[in-house]
Amino acid sequence: MGYLEGLFSLEGRNALVTGGSSGIGKAIARALARAGASVVVVARREAELKAAVDELTEAGCRAAWVSGDLATRAGVRTVAEEAAGVFGEPDILVNSAGINIRPPLSELTDEDWDRTMAVNLEAPFLLGQRFGPRMAERGYGRIIHVTSQQAHRAFVQSGAYGVSKGGLESLARSQAEAWSPYGVTVNTLVPGFVMTPLNERLSSDPVKVAALAERTMVGRNGLAGDFEGAAVFLSSPASAYVTGQALFVDGGLSVH
Ligand SMILES: NC(=O)c1ccc[n+]([C@@H]2O[C@H](COP(=O)([O-])OP(=O)(O)OC[C@H]3O[C@@H](n4cnc5c(N)ncnc54)[C@H](OP(=O)(O)O)[C@@H]3O)[C@@H](O)[C@H]2O)c1
Repeated sequence: MGYLEGLFSLEGRNALVTGGSSGIGKAIARALARAGASVVVVARREAELKAAVDELTEAGCRAAWVSGDLATRAGVRTVAEEAAGVFGEPDILVNSAGINIRPPLSELTDEDWDRTMAVNLEAPFLLGQRFGPRMAERGYGRIIHVTSQQAHRAFVQSGAYGVSKGGLESLARSQAEAWSPYGVTVNTLVPGFVMTPLNERLSSDPVKVAALAERTMVGRNGLAGDFEGAAVFLSSPASAYVTGQALFVDGGLSVH
């Protein structure tokens, strides 16, 4: 086996990527598949899922999709079983599915709060409970959560979203503490402002887009593809001694 292959190859590994039909999750699913993993992507809309998987299979990768709603506990459990039934138990779990409802805090309803927590925090917790201990039993696992700047500081209506992402960073540390001794590392990827459908409203305002780019050090906003290398690293044998960490993929936004 070549040097780079030994460090980074995901050959023979199974991956489950939530939110793998769009934006950052889609780019991560593509990266893991191209690095050799068999990838199952999970989201609700079937047309988007199918399109994402078709792209991968046409490129010669092993990929499949499972449609389900991560906003309910029953939905998460069903999706988890279906996904594990495709290629086998995942060795790599990426939680990229997320929502950002963004009402001003004074107008945030109980339903907004519950839904945000369910998709952004509870689904990653439940998927971790389902897959983490089994990864630990097998002696290899990688869990990657996608959080946000708002896990670290409040801005642009952090509301419930920032709270859910702050919780997700803590969840990563709890999971890392529990399972790292058994070969399961758990880390978070922290985006800056990335041009994806999640940010449609903001991305369509060129003045705001330019102002946000200005706040980075690299001088541009993020693209979904910027997450590919970091995701492969955190999924691979190369990151065996990196756990409980938050890796900012943000062009320097957080330190500017
Ligand atoms: N874009 C940014 O600037 C940015 C910044 C910081 C953090 N993030 C985080 O990065 C992650 C990915 O965001 P993105 O920008 O790539 O967003 P995106 O393009 O809107 O993708 C979100 C994905 O999550 C899925 N999803 C949403 N609700 C779901 C549900 N109830 N059940 C199952 N799947 C669901 C969506 O598919 P369906 O709608 O078909 O279900 C889609 O695949 C999110 O966790 C987000 O909070 C993004």
